[in-house]
Amino acid sequence: MKKYLVIGNPIDHSLSPKLHNYWIKKNKIDAIYEKKLLIKSDLKKIILKLKLGEIDGINVTVPFKNSVIPYIDELSVEAKKTQSVNTIYRKNDKIIGHNTDIAGFELGLRHFKYNVLGKKVLILGAGGVVPSIIFALKKMKASHIILSNRTKLKAENIKKIFPGIEIIDWGKTGEFDMIINATSIGLKSDDEIKLNYNDFGKNKFFYDVIYNPKDTNFLRKAKELGNEIENGKMMFIYQAHQAFAIWHKIFPEIDNETIKLLDD
Ligand code: ATR
Repeated sequence: MKKYLVIGNPIDHSLSPKLHNYWIKKNKIDAIYEKKLLIKSDLKKIILKLKLGEIDGINVTVPFKNSVIPYIDELSVEAKKTQSVNTIYRKNDKIIGHNTDIAGFELGLRHFKYNVLGKKVLILGAGGVVPSIIFALKKMKASHIILSNRTKLKAENIKKIFPGIEIIDWGKTGEFDMIINATSIGLKSDDEIKLNYNDFGKNKFFYDVIYNPKDTNFLRKAKELGNEIENGKMMFIYQAHQAFAIWHKIFPEIDNETIKLLDD
C-alpha cells in the first residue's frame, strides 16, 4: 500500500486527508493519506523516508513550505520562483518539490469564471501563500498587482521576487477590481479587517483565501454592499487535485459531492 502524508504545524485542522482519501477510495487505489505533526528539525528525516520509498508523496503546509527546500533535490519552476513547496514526490530516485497552490488559485478562479485579464488586483497580506497568488495573477495577465501588509518589510521582500508589483501602506486601499484577503484575519469568526467598505463602490470581486469559516466578515460585508464574493475552498480543492494527479497519474472528478465533503 502506498503512503502519502501532509506535514505541518499545526496540522489537526487539515482537510487534505479527507479529500485525498475520498479520491483514493473512489478510484480504487491501494493507498492511504495521513497527517503528521512535525517540528522543523524533523524535516530532513521525513524527506529521507520519501527517498527510501517508505513514503510515496508529501504535501507540505504551514509553516514548512519554505523551510523544506534545503532537503529537496530539484524544484519545479513554480516552486523555485515562489520559494514555496507544497507537493513533494520521487522521480528517478530524486526528490522533486513542486508548488500546486499556483495552479490551485488559477483553476479556482476559472471555476468561478472570473477573468483576471486586465484587472487591477489588491492583495492584503504577505504570508507564505502570497507569492503563489502573485505568480498565478501574473500568468493570468492581471494589469496591476498591489500589495499591502501590516509589516511592510515582508511586502518589500515579495517585491524583490516580483519587481512589477506596487506596495501600499497597510490601511490604504486605492482603486481595484479584485481584492484578496491573504491574511489570517478571519480564521476566528469575530476577526475583522478594518476597511472602508463603503468607499469601494459595487461590483468588485472580494476573494478570501480562508475557507473555514466559509464566510468571513470580509466576505459578508462585501456581499451586503453588492459585491461578488468567493472563498478559498476551490483553490484548496484544485491544489489537492494537482498533487493527486502528480502522484497517482489520475485527475479525479471534482463533483458536488467532492465540494460538499469539505463543508461537514
Ligand atoms: P503564513 O503562515 O501563511 O506564512 P503568516 O506569515 O503568519 O502566514 O501571514 C499571515 C498574514 O496575516 C501576514 O501578512 C500578517 O501580517 P504581518 O506580516 O504584519 O504579521 C497578517 N496578519 C495576521 N494578523 C494580522 C492583524 N491582526 N492585522 C494585520 N495583519 C495581520
